[in-house]
Amino acid sequence: MTDGPPRTKHLASQRRDYAQHVLHDDYFQNQSPHELVRLWLNDAMEAGLTDATAMTLATVDELGWPDARIVLLKGLSEEGWDFYTNYGSAKVKHLDSPPHMAAAVIYWATLERQVRVRGPVQRLEREISEAYFASRPRTSQLSAWASAQSQPVENREQLEVQYREQAEQYPEGTQIPLPPFWGGVRLSPLLFEFWQGRSNRLHDRFRAQKNDDGRWQWIRLAP
Ligand SMILES: Cc1cc2nc3c(=O)[nH]c(=O)nc-3n(C[C@H](O)[C@H](O)[C@H](O)COP(=O)(O)O)c2cc1C
Repeated sequence: MTDGPPRTKHLASQRRDYAQHVLHDDYFQNQSPHELVRLWLNDAMEAGLTDATAMTLATVDELGWPDARIVLLKGLSEEGWDFYTNYGSAKVKHLDSPPHMAAAVIYWATLERQVRVRGPVQRLEREISEAYFASRPRTSQLSAWASAQSQPVENREQLEVQYREQAEQYPEGTQIPLPPFWGGVRLSPLLFEFWQGRSNRLHDRFRAQKNDDGRWQWIRLAP
């Protein structure tokens, strides 16, 4: 016999106060949300946070079911957020279908900050993917060739055999080309939301949305 459901009780009692930073109403005036993401990302990297560039990417599958997974942010500009993946993966299948949109969220727990974005996605030009692929460690390049991401695998041994086959195909000293089924994807945010934890659950939230004149409109939201 057990004494009721202690785990649930334990979860419900987990809480902390958020009090590190504030977002003032004038903080965003004339500020591009892209620039703010860059600043927050820099703060996260300077703070030495583990996987500071990890974002949760949400897509919708062919049945309308939502899906989400972590990918690493590898490029950030006014054009959008770039990540790299296998084009045969589930996520890219979802993104290849209309409306070709995704959402992403990053949470930097230590800084008590969250950023959310939504927008259309497109594949990066091959030259950009080639340059990024060439910058990866050789072992990562071989893994990209060896792994048909999101496809079933018989066992661990099968994966390692496939890796060894690629290592034989491209011995040390030879250049490993970008696989045709692998590359970058850019999410171009049309909507941003910035969340800064505050005391007593009265958090600061601001949404940025592009106006018809191309300027960003900032709105404070209730937490
Ligand atoms: C910390 C972390 C970083 C990851 N980075 C990537 C990445 O940059 N690209 C990628 O395709 N998968 C990455 N993954 C694996 C994905 O979360 C996911 O398992 C994989 O892409 C297959 O997703 P899908 O079947 O929905 O396409 C990462 C996972 C973790 C936990």
